[in-house]
Amino acid sequence: MDNTDQMIRDCVARSTNRAELWINLLRSANARHVVEVGVLKGEFASTILRECAFISKYYMIDPWRHLDDWNKPANREDEYHEKCFLTAKQNTDFAGERRIILRGKTTEVVDTIPLNDLDVAYLDGDHTLRGITIDVIGLEPRVREGGWIGGDDFHSSIWQHSTAFEPTLVFPFSVYFAEAIGARIYGLPYNQFLMVKSAVKEFKFVDLTGRFSDVGLKGQFHPDRFLKQKMAEAFPWVRKAAKRMVAKGTRE
Ligand SMILES: C[S@@+](CC[C@H](N)C(=O)[O-])C[C@H]1O[C@@H](n2cnc3c(N)ncnc32)[C@H](O)[C@@H]1O
Repeated sequence: MDNTDQMIRDCVARSTNRAELWINLLRSANARHVVEVGVLKGEFASTILRECAFISKYYMIDPWRHLDDWNKPANREDEYHEKCFLTAKQNTDFAGERRIILRGKTTEVVDTIPLNDLDVAYLDGDHTLRGITIDVIGLEPRVREGGWIGGDDFHSSIWQHSTAFEPTLVFPFSVYFAEAIGARIYGLPYNQFLMVKSAVKEFKFVDLTGRFSDVGLKGQFHPDRFLKQKMAEAFPWVRKAAKRMVAKGTRE
């Protein structure tokens, strides 16, 4: 175990939710330049900016508009996104001189960020295969050596938002990307991941949750698993009742 590994494990041990985890990680890394991709109402951004006064540059990337080619529940009408934009601005106005708002899709604005400028890139935008591919490949060159690429929605099931939506592929795509560049990647609690950009090739998937034993996709499409997912969507009360029965059995 090296220092970074120990630091990450300590942060996990001291955290009880996503925000706390990232505040601890950013503090430990003494991160100065950070980007958040996918900001919505700026709730995460405002928490981070408030708790991490040492961050001197915080890029906020979000199109804040309806996207015709994004099949996810957060893709609502323009009016909703306009309100989110105003709320995100208000929520982070207290840190106006430290924040840089980049309104647009990652592909439209990422070139504004200089190469090797970032200590940490936090990805929480379009979580489809297309979205995570664009975000990881677009942001990685902008993160300095030794810096981190992390993010949200690292789910062991690709059907995060039900089969009515495009699957979420933050996992396993980010693991494959880490392997391609020879980086160590961590599966963290609260559906988070963290990749360490290093000059030394040292790919390793460190799963601190115990939920990611299979990094393939075949299992995700296994008929039994898919049918179970469909049944749970069609009859949500069955799943709830089964959970209640299991909980009751455990108590007795
Ligand atoms: C889950 S929300 C972000 C929540 C926020 N990070 C937080 O924790 O408070 C996802 C956001 O990603 C944005 N998004 C969708 N597609 C995007 C793209 N191609 N580039 C950048 N952001 C995108 C959406 O507009 C939406 O606001």
